[in-house]
Amino acid sequence: MLFLLLSGFVLLSVSCQSQTLSSTQSSDAQFAPNGEKIYEDLIIGFVQLGAESEWRVANTHSIKETAEQLSLELRFYDAQQKQENQIEAVRRLITQKVDVIGISPIVETGWEEVFQEAKDAGIPIILVDRRADVPEDLYVSYLGSDFLEEGRNAARVMAKLVNGSANVVELAGTPDSAPANDRFEGFREVMKDYPNIKVIDSQTGDFTLARGREVMAEFLQKYGTQITAVFAHNDDMALGAIQAIEAYGLRPGVDIKIVSVDAARGAFEAMIAGKLNATVECNPLLGPQFFELALKVVNGQPIPKWVPSIESIFFPENAIEILPTRKY
Ligand code: AHR
Repeated sequence: MLFLLLSGFVLLSVSCQSQTLSSTQSSDAQFAPNGEKIYEDLIIGFVQLGAESEWRVANTHSIKETAEQLSLELRFYDAQQKQENQIEAVRRLITQKVDVIGISPIVETGWEEVFQEAKDAGIPIILVDRRADVPEDLYVSYLGSDFLEEGRNAARVMAKLVNGSANVVELAGTPDSAPANDRFEGFREVMKDYPNIKVIDSQTGDFTLARGREVMAEFLQKYGTQITAVFAHNDDMALGAIQAIEAYGLRPGVDIKIVSVDAARGAFEAMIAGKLNATVECNPLLGPQFFELALKVVNGQPIPKWVPSIESIFFPENAIEILPTRKY
């Protein structure tokens, strides 16, 4: 078993406090007075998709930090941006008979078979941050944002910023991922009301700063000063675009308006520098809610099919004031 845990492609970190605690406690101490399980009894698997962005790093931190605080055992896999690694990790966790599996699916499709295997093994799946395109009986809950609404909000903000007229280029997220699909769609839904705002090109920047910079440089080579606005599906790509725009000799935030998603600290710094015009919040601090859902599931309590995050929109005007309060 130890070999299984330590070998292979993914980084696995196990929070062992609960094992130590449980083994030194009497068996009665592992249950709440009403016979229900408590956090310290849980063995939870979490299949993270990778570490592509500031957002993702904060999300992983929230999961690991909360597991430690709750003294439960976390079996954490980092799939390094590959769906096949995520599928293999789920299979390992099924073999290990964990209580619950949390997963942030890198793309929406291709999960049915492995989720069915988890269901057959009696292990509930909680989707964290990203949805999967599977029948509803294959997961117990989705905890995360309304990506469609984030796309709509980005469009509403953009329309105001450019007074209803612009040539927008879009830096899209990972192809076939839920946030990329939904932000793309939500943005266009609102833009139907603004015929003078044209999305002249849309390419993936894979949610990374480096790709955002490269793709923006290509857009500038192709369209030059025709571009008057950028919609970036996350802050990292917006920060990459800012670098490309400066390298091209234009002023980000002034010559080219930029709206992105996440509201990470880097975005606040860019807004304070006048280089980013707005960021739509997408909350990565999902650890506490995730483990609360997991505990309820294990104890057979009802949980909602979707637990939406509560999110806002931030602008340069109050970025200095808000930055110190940001946790990611
Ligand atoms: O799924 C959430 C998205 O994934 C975030 O917007 C992005 O930064 C991350 O990589």
